Formats: sequence, C-alpha cells, structure tokens
Amino acid sequence: MRDLDDLDLYHLPMGDQAMGDDPWPHFDAARARHPWLACWDEFGYVFTEYAAMRELLGQDDKLRPPYADLVGQLGQEGTPWGRFTGEQMIALPSDQHRLLRNTFAAKFTPRNANALRPMMRETISRLLDEWAPRGQIDFEEFSSHFPISVMFSLVGAPHEGVTLLRDDLEAIGLAHSYQLDRFPRIQEGMVRLERFVEETIARRRAEPRTDGSEDLLELLIRTGDEGDISHRQLTDLIMFFFIAGYDTSKNVLTYTMYTLLDHPEIYERCAEDHDYCRRVIEEALRWFNPGTVARYVDTEFEFRGVRFPKDTMLFFPLSISGRDPGAFERAGTFDPDRVIDPNKRQIAFALGKHMCLGQYIARAQLQEAIHQVAQRIRHPRLAGEVHWRPFPGTWGIRGLPIAFTPGEAHVREAEPA
Ligand code: HEM
Repeated sequence: MRDLDDLDLYHLPMGDQAMGDDPWPHFDAARARHPWLACWDEFGYVFTEYAAMRELLGQDDKLRPPYADLVGQLGQEGTPWGRFTGEQMIALPSDQHRLLRNTFAAKFTPRNANALRPMMRETISRLLDEWAPRGQIDFEEFSSHFPISVMFSLVGAPHEGVTLLRDDLEAIGLAHSYQLDRFPRIQEGMVRLERFVEETIARRRAEPRTDGSEDLLELLIRTGDEGDISHRQLTDLIMFFFIAGYDTSKNVLTYTMYTLLDHPEIYERCAEDHDYCRRVIEEALRWFNPGTVARYVDTEFEFRGVRFPKDTMLFFPLSISGRDPGAFERAGTFDPDRVIDPNKRQIAFALGKHMCLGQYIARAQLQEAIHQVAQRIRHPRLAGEVHWRPFPGTWGIRGLPIAFTPGEAHVREAEPA
C-alpha cells in the first residue's frame, strides 16, 4: 500500500482567480500526472475522476463533513456564520441528521416539487415581464432573482425583501472559497438572513393561512412540531434552504444560458418543447454544476492501493466530474439527446446521506425557467465580457451580459405537472 506522500500529484491552484476563470486545463493536467488524484497545498487532496467520486461519496461511514472543523480552521468560532455552519443540517452528528432528514424528506419528493410548478411559472413569468422588454441585460443578475423569489413564495414572505437578501446570499455563497477577507460581509448577511427567517416563522405562527391550504413553510412548521424538531433547528433548516438553493440554482441557470448561446437550435427547441427542457437541464447539470463537496477522513481507509489517514481533507469537485473523458463518451460535447447510462448519471446533487434534499425543486425550477426564458429572450448573443467566481466555493459565472430580441410568451396548452 502506498502513502499519499509517495504519489506524484499535480498541485491545483485552488482559490487563485485563474482557477475560477478556467479550471479545465488544470484538471486535464492533473489527470495526466495522476489518473484520479491531485492536491491542494493548503488544505488536502482533490479527486479528479468521476468514478472515484462516485465510489467514495457514498461511503459516509468513512468520511465526515468538514463544517465543524472548518469553523475553527478559518477562525470563525463565535460568529454568526461559525455558529450556523457548525450546527446546520450537514454538520449535525449522524443520529441528529437522520432525525431531521427523516422528518422532512417525505416533503421533498418529485410529486411535491411538481405541485410547485404553477408558482414557479408565475414567478419566472413575472420576472420576465420586468426584464425581457429591455433587450439587453446581465443574465446573471436576472437569474439571481429567480431562485430567491421562488423561496420567498415558498415561505409566503413579501417580495420587497428579495433584493437585499439576494445581496446577502451572494456574499454568503462565497464562504466556501475560504478567503478570510470576505467574512465581515458574510457575517452581516448571516445576521440579516437569520432575522428574516425568525420573523417569517413568527409571523406565520401568529397568522396561519386561512384558506385551508398549506405552503412549504406551514408544512415545515407543522412537520417540525410533530417531529419534535426544535425552533433553532427549524430556523437553521430554512436558512439552509435559502443558502443551499440560491447560488447553486442561479449558477446553473446562468451557465445553461451561456452554453445555449452557442447552441441556438437547442435554445429554440427549449421555447417550443417543455418536456425537452428536462433533458437540457439534466445535460446542463452534467456539463456544469457549481458544487465541490468537502469531507475529512473519519476512519482511515485504503482506496486503489493508497492509504488515506484519519483527518485528511478531501475534495470532490462535482462541478468538473461530468466532463471526465474516462467516464463519458463525447464528454466535451453538450448533447441533451445523449443516452444516459444509469450507472453514469450526473452527480451534481452529490451522493450518500447528504444528497441534495432540494434536487427535485431545483430541477423543476430550472426547467420552468429555461422554457419561458427561451420564449421571451429571443436570439440571445453575448454583449460583453464574462467573469468567473472563485473555484471552489459555489463556482460559476459572474456577469453574463447579453443582448436579444424581446419575445412573447407562448399560449400554453394544459401541461403535465
Ligand atoms: C442546481 C441546484 C442545486 C445543486 C447543484 C445542489 C447541490 C447540492 C449538493 C452537492 C449537496 C451535498 C452537499 C454535501 O454533501 O456537502 C446538497 C445538499 C443539500 N441541498 Fe442542494 N443543491 C441545489 C439546490 C437546492 C435547493 C433548491 C434546495 C432547497 C430548497 C437544496 C437543499 C439542500 C439540502 C437541505 C441539502 C443537505 C441535505 C442533507 O444534509 O441531508 N438544494 N445540495
């Protein structure tokens, strides 16, 4: 068995802006040096192969989420971000995580996500009414309003607060690029997000809906009360939904548009064919996704003849996993019609016991968005420079200026939910 120190590994310049701007050549170089592992000097080791990520991510008994350790490592103990990060869902000890996940998982099914589609359609349509007549927009800014507006509707909060909270979520989303100078702004955002969620829960408890229906907030409050979930945990969970669902969805929508600028025939078809949008989003999640999952080794293990000692930090860049040429045929071609091998699905939502709880909501809102965007933003073209967010962290495009012809929404046939 070999030790990690015996391996000749490529040093990925993680955290450098050059890496955010264009990580692909670095991962090619890393795979040329070693087929499945690279290193990040300051922190640990980075898996570069889809198959290795798939095999290890599900092994929750050997790995532990890094959040509690990271708070100390980044000197954020006793801060709002540090408190939340050390106690939020993914950071909880296994038994507490299981209780929380089991209590709420049944509410996050594809069926429940589909029931939210009319609200999602109405939300994207309202945003497009405001943005599409302009003919030239920053598409990233536009798409940043969508997932947060959906979340506001899910918890029945008045939409006036969207812009302020969006700026906060934007700042908070950069925490996992581990750049210390960002933390003062992140703390401000955490304080405001917590206050907003506290007020939203208190308002709903005081004034439940009277029409007999139950929205996601009421469902969470009731399920939490029945399942003995503490007020603190409920607040943290809803804060987590805001954080987890915001720049992930925004970055996928922005990158999908960026990709489709080069595929006008696919974009046209998105406007016509609602069902085809499912395939486009599934392929988009293989082609690009924003996530890098971090873990510590909790129990020493051997993988492919290499020893991974306890407390080694590991990174699984899901973001680049879908373009591993060893795993996907024509990995560098964007093709929504590709035949999906069930053993080689995209892993944008991770695997194992922390696999994304919001994945069906995310998929539904992205499909609904791209269908209507393609109708209202016709013949889009790049109208300026594109910039990139840091890698890792929630990676993606920062600023996508486009020009286009405003279009009309299609009259909808009754659509399958
Ligand atoms: C395209 C959009 C999204 C992507 C790519 C994404 C990705 C992920 C990933 C990779 C994880 C695993 C993190 C880890 O193991 O460290 C995760 C977990 C999670 N996500 Fe998402 N997510 C998205 C949207 C959402 C939305 C919209 C929500 C909520 C409405 C959400 C809620 C959650 C929750 C609650 C967890 C933690 C589950 C657990 O620990 O059991 N996500 N997500």
